Amino acid sequence: MLDVVRKFPEQAREALEMDFEFDIDFSRIRRVMVAGMGGSAISADILSHFSKIPFHVVRDYAPPPFLDEKTLFIAVSYSGNTEETLSCFSLAKEKCPHVAITTGGKLGEMAENVIKIPSGFQPRAAIAYLLFPMAKLLSRASIIDVDLENAIYILESEREKMEETARMVANEMTGIPLIYGYGVMQSIARRWRQQFNENAKMHAFDFMLPECNHNELEAWEGSREKMTCIFLREREEGERIKTRFDFMREEYKKRAKVIEIYAAGKDSFSRAMYHMHVGDLASIYMAERRGVEAEPVNLIMKLKETLSQHSRSSS
Ligand code: PA5
Repeated sequence: MLDVVRKFPEQAREALEMDFEFDIDFSRIRRVMVAGMGGSAISADILSHFSKIPFHVVRDYAPPPFLDEKTLFIAVSYSGNTEETLSCFSLAKEKCPHVAITTGGKLGEMAENVIKIPSGFQPRAAIAYLLFPMAKLLSRASIIDVDLENAIYILESEREKMEETARMVANEMTGIPLIYGYGVMQSIARRWRQQFNENAKMHAFDFMLPECNHNELEAWEGSREKMTCIFLREREEGERIKTRFDFMREEYKKRAKVIEIYAAGKDSFSRAMYHMHVGDLASIYMAERRGVEAEPVNLIMKLKETLSQHSRSSS
């Protein structure tokens, strides 16, 4: 898993070179809706921060009712067999133009417009293939405006620094990680949490600034648990957010370990990719430190199997 995750910069470049053409009139699109779960949904969360039109991410069995012919519907499922995503897709496909991003599975069979991505990875380790083709599609449609080339350049040129930071995080962490982010880093904090959950098999929590300053902040008045706070920071975050983070650091460090990480990159998307990759690596180093295998997700697979047996026996 570590070898695969380390190849994220190369995979991103390969994914960006993937070509596709669909018979969709993008000039008519007024809204984007992406259906997906877990490792397949997070790419949409990240890209939603760069959208010029309303952008909804659906993690459920049904899309919201405002879906219409001006909605671009994107179903993302690495396996192509995730039941929530398939359910959304079957409810949406007759109503709006659609694209599926998948290795195949049932989704690959059902969809007319498919971006077929390489198989053989854990979904969360295939993030380059789940994210960059979607970003390319949305950029071409003028829905988002992100510098994908620059993001790859940052991933390539900052490799050592990201490795070093990830190792430092895994070595220094004690107790449960709480991850904090502002703007697009809210979604990156969520990705960190998911990666600690799935790879390191541990609990973790993510929080969004400024919202967490209106609730979670007060928990520190009573908190006695062992925790590590990870702040995903940007030098460009702005004065108000800087003041909030600085305040939080001074308060939180009275009760917990605080690790602040600043991303490299001249634009917000590049910095998001930087922070994401550090988190991905840190979760694998944490798995090593905890003596657990990062790759298998036995409980997730067991639940998926239980659900499929249940639908077989009730049909
Ligand atoms: O990372 C994982 O393994 C999970 O979070 C999966 O992505 C999630 O269960 C959805 O499966 P899929 O990506 O195949 O649709």
